[in-house]
Amino acid sequence: MKLAWTTIIICIWLAQCLKGNVNAIRYMPRLEGATYAIRGDYVPMKFYDSLRTSDRSKQELQNKLRNFLENLQKNLTTSTLLSGLDTSISSTQNHFLKLQELSTFFHDASETAGLFARDSEIFYEVTKNSSYALLLKLRQVPMAQPTEIKILLTNYFAEMEFFHIMFSEIMDEALEYTQNVLRAIQKVFIYYADAQRYILQDWNLKPNMVCCKMYMDFLQLYSAQIFKCAADHELNIAYDVYAMAETNAKYIMRQLEFRIQRLFNCFLFKSYQIRCQFLLNAEHDFEKLFSKLEELETYFDIKTKRGRVSALRFRRNFQNENDIIESRVEIADCLPKDFPHGQMQKDLKSCFYFVDKKQPISV
Ligand SMILES: *[C@@H]1O[C@H](CO)[C@@H](O)[C@H](O)[C@H]1NC(C)=O
Ligand SMILES: *[C@@H]1O[C@H](CO)[C@@H](O)[C@H](O)[C@H]1NC(C)=O
Repeated sequence: MKLAWTTIIICIWLAQCLKGNVNAIRYMPRLEGATYAIRGDYVPMKFYDSLRTSDRSKQELQNKLRNFLENLQKNLTTSTLLSGLDTSISSTQNHFLKLQELSTFFHDASETAGLFARDSEIFYEVTKNSSYALLLKLRQVPMAQPTEIKILLTNYFAEMEFFHIMFSEIMDEALEYTQNVLRAIQKVFIYYADAQRYILQDWNLKPNMVCCKMYMDFLQLYSAQIFKCAADHELNIAYDVYAMAETNAKYIMRQLEFRIQRLFNCFLFKSYQIRCQFLLNAEHDFEKLFSKLEELETYFDIKTKRGRVSALRFRRNFQNENDIIESRVEIADCLPKDFPHGQMQKDLKSCFYFVDKKQPISV
């Protein structure tokens, strides 16, 4: 893997650099009595704020989409609408209301998906920025240090900078995946909501039971189909990718914060020999964090199927080319082509007074 190779090269290089510095640090004066540590909050508040906001938006989307199929069934069942209603006027009004509610549902769900897309994007951006802000803290270490320490510090900075770059790249991958999924869902839902609203407002559904029932059946079928296609498999993967990125970002931020704090303590008390041991081997100090990144990348690869695709591509000679093509459903295609004209039967079309022959809905 690219990551592994670059790490190995950096390690060899660092080992070379460090050889000369070990002795220097061994003879640093030992400071007695400085046993307490300075505590600092180095992770920007913005990181935790954006995390909370983004989590809330995710929760809202999950709540919004929960039990959709059951509600759809319940809301659009003609028999429940009819029971207790005696005049045809009120039952038609009731139908109209339920149809409006369905359109509103998709409109709101689209908005909620858009909000989560926006807030999670901010979260990923703030995470990258926070990692960078922590890196810059290293520049604030007092400059008047022995040359040997300065060199070690430079090495440490280089290692942390490299970590920051890798971390940002992986956050970008998670960002790209979740954004693609959420924005696609947002689009499909808003198109579908608009299509329904347009039919309701401009097509004039005939106010009789047969037509109402036919149109409701039509909407039940396509709402369920579009919902299942757009908001099932890939959305769940997006949730997982987001949750995993979030958990790891929190862990990594705390780890980076710990490292900065330790560094500041080490320089504050000039107790290099006790507190600065980690500086001798920056690569070892970041080892665990790098393996966290590798785990995260592997997880994303498997989750988003890119790993499988690239593995297949790698064994190209043994495969039929067609096997390599991803079988993933594109969310953008979840709204059937030519909807609703192409899907409506003749007898349903005859239930509307004014069906515009020229495609009234632009999808
Ligand atoms: C079902 O009806 C309730 C209110 O009666 C509404 O809040 C909800 O959005 C509707 N759901 C669907 C899928 O139409
Ligand atoms: C991240 O940092 C860049 C450059 O400093 C800045 O332009 C951007 O607004 C920041 N993003 C967030 C979400 O804070």
